[in-house]
Amino acid sequence: MKAVQNSFQVDIAGVSGPTAAERERARFLDRELTRHNYLYHTLDAPEISDEEYDALFRELVALETKWPELRTSHSPTLRVGGQLLTGLEKKDHRRRMYGLDNVFSVEEWRDFIARMRRAWDEPVNGPMQQAFWCDPKLDGLACELVYEKGVLTEALTRGDGVTGEVVTEAVRTIRTVPLRFCGDGPFPELIEVRGEVVMLKADFAELNSRQVSLGQKVFANPRNAAAGSLRQLDISISRSRRLHFLAYSAGEVRWPPAFECKTQHSLMERFAEWGFQTPPGGTLCRSAAEVEAYAEGVRAHRAEYPMEIDGAVAKHDDLEAQAVLGFTARAPRFAIAFKFPAQQVETILRAIEVQVGRTGVLTPVAVLEPVPVGGVVVSRATLHNEDEIAARDVRVGDTVIIQRAGDVIPEIVGPVLGKRPPESEPFVFPHDCPACGEPVHREPGQSAWRCDNLACPAVRLRAIIHFVSQAGLDVQGIGKKWIAQLVESGRVLSPADLFCLRVEDLLQFERMGEILAGKFVDAMEEARDGATLARLVSALGIRHVGEQTARLLARSFADLDALAAAGAEELQALPDVGPEVAASIRDFFATPANLALMERFRTLGLWPHGGQEKNGTDAGNEAGEAVLGEDEDAPRASGNVATSPLSDKTILFTGTLTMPRGKAQRLAERAGALPVGGVSKKLDYLVVGDKPGSKLAKAQSLGVTVLDEAAFLRLLEECGVTL
Ligand code: IVH
Repeated sequence: MKAVQNSFQVDIAGVSGPTAAERERARFLDRELTRHNYLYHTLDAPEISDEEYDALFRELVALETKWPELRTSHSPTLRVGGQLLTGLEKKDHRRRMYGLDNVFSVEEWRDFIARMRRAWDEPVNGPMQQAFWCDPKLDGLACELVYEKGVLTEALTRGDGVTGEVVTEAVRTIRTVPLRFCGDGPFPELIEVRGEVVMLKADFAELNSRQVSLGQKVFANPRNAAAGSLRQLDISISRSRRLHFLAYSAGEVRWPPAFECKTQHSLMERFAEWGFQTPPGGTLCRSAAEVEAYAEGVRAHRAEYPMEIDGAVAKHDDLEAQAVLGFTARAPRFAIAFKFPAQQVETILRAIEVQVGRTGVLTPVAVLEPVPVGGVVVSRATLHNEDEIAARDVRVGDTVIIQRAGDVIPEIVGPVLGKRPPESEPFVFPHDCPACGEPVHREPGQSAWRCDNLACPAVRLRAIIHFVSQAGLDVQGIGKKWIAQLVESGRVLSPADLFCLRVEDLLQFERMGEILAGKFVDAMEEARDGATLARLVSALGIRHVGEQTARLLARSFADLDALAAAGAEELQALPDVGPEVAASIRDFFATPANLALMERFRTLGLWPHGGQEKNGTDAGNEAGEAVLGEDEDAPRASGNVATSPLSDKTILFTGTLTMPRGKAQRLAERAGALPVGGVSKKLDYLVVGDKPGSKLAKAQSLGVTVLDEAAFLRLLEECGVTL
């Protein structure tokens, strides 16, 4: 398998830091996981299965647990969910919504119990109780519903765990959500009821057949359908879909005196009294062994649940114990998810298609006889690359085993050799690009074949989609389908062409009316006028340059000319830019076609400025944007920022802060600072919370200024940044 390469060296006993190989492996895993997150969540084009993703994720968690200094501030292990959808209003959760760690076996569950015991600290807290509330793990969209005195006032999706999207109106259309609590109360002054929005399997099947008959988008699975139905700007769509909300935990609660729930099971009873649905079959288990039996029971009856489930969850029943145990950087210490092994079925491999991605990588995709696996119909699955096909020896015409692990990405396990047709032949990977016909090449040591033709229509299409996407210029309201039509028609050959389209040009396309065409042209104009250097650099799709690196570059260079002229050394002097990233930037600007594209941007007036340092007086707009990121509600600290004590300072957070780390980073960014991933001589401030770990010692040895959280808050105040 491509993603899981070169295992790292075993550490030599007595060495008090990660080996070079471990560092390199952690960097590799960090990059790979970030890329796969993006492929999965943003491009909807996953390259690996969930299980492969999980394996990479767990490997990185293990490395970071062993060597906390390897965990960067942007490590994918700190992420708890998908990317945020643009368009909906965003809001911070009062308390972070964590994900759950997983166990895949009874042994891992017992390890979890052992960890929990260690964290419990018996001498201080007395003996730990053994009761767990267990319920099925629902595969939907996690949401938080805020009730004030029993009345629904707001609903947020989990988003990235720190910031969610406001979906109050869409949630109000869910018939099983109480708009006010049943009963006479007294009700909490405020309670954040957390749970999952799901679509039942039967409703999902009905929705998809309706979508087919209307010639509209078919959803891959009930989870996507639930998410797509809820995250709508047009709530008449949400209303027309049958969704359910099932409550399973609480965020902040302000209980009325003497009415506080002390246990998870009494909280669940209270939810039911107030009129909520709760996950079916929730049970109080009084020992670790009972939990094991419960999880096995849920697994055995998985197919009978009316909604998709992908595991069972066990939560310590005592809410006070939950508070004592608290959270790691990623997940609660008091709860765990038992994930189920993948479900497997057989089907026929009808064909192998080869797709070409934005970076020119050729990915083989299996075209399958459609088959239901765990509640969804699978008709395509990635085969990753040439080596994978050879290793699994799958051939067109084979009966193959498909597996789907709880989540969405189906995977081909291998052929059923006994059913192989006698005339079958091994698959020959194409040596010409299926999109443009040019020869493709495969570099030694790499598993991917690549098309390097910059004019390749498939590469071009993906690149243009990326350009307008949220990770690029974030052009509002221009869908992938329109871009595909424009590119296929030959009307748009580069991102620059999008800015030249006039209403008349667009009207020539079927189903494009005056209003839509007008909106399209306006959106491009808006994107051009509002573009920041950070967004433009990210939109260019330079390999290894994601949004964070683009922001960093935009702060350090005056414009694209300055970036293009930067040498490798100058680039590597920036925090978090290593030789690979620097080389990739250099390659990009050494390519004549890319330089020609820049010239077109200049002529079109798409030429944002950045670089507060080099560009002193011109810091205004770009500095503001780079500092504020995407948080439109943020108070603009404008004038202060350029001279504030945090402006242009690199900053790193370590240990447990009272606020979520993501929030601290965003506040620092608003004040003009640049959060970075590791301690080095280039670090200006290390902010330490509780249990800071080895970073503190390292920072002290390098003479880095160390702040506690209170000092950090004072600095923020000086910068005019409010919480
Ligand atoms: S309890 C602090 N119970 O699964 C932990 N979570 O991968 C509170 N999920 O997004 C969560 N079913 O929101 C809990 N029965 C259940 C659940 C459940 C699904 C979600 C959870 C999180 C995800 C973790």
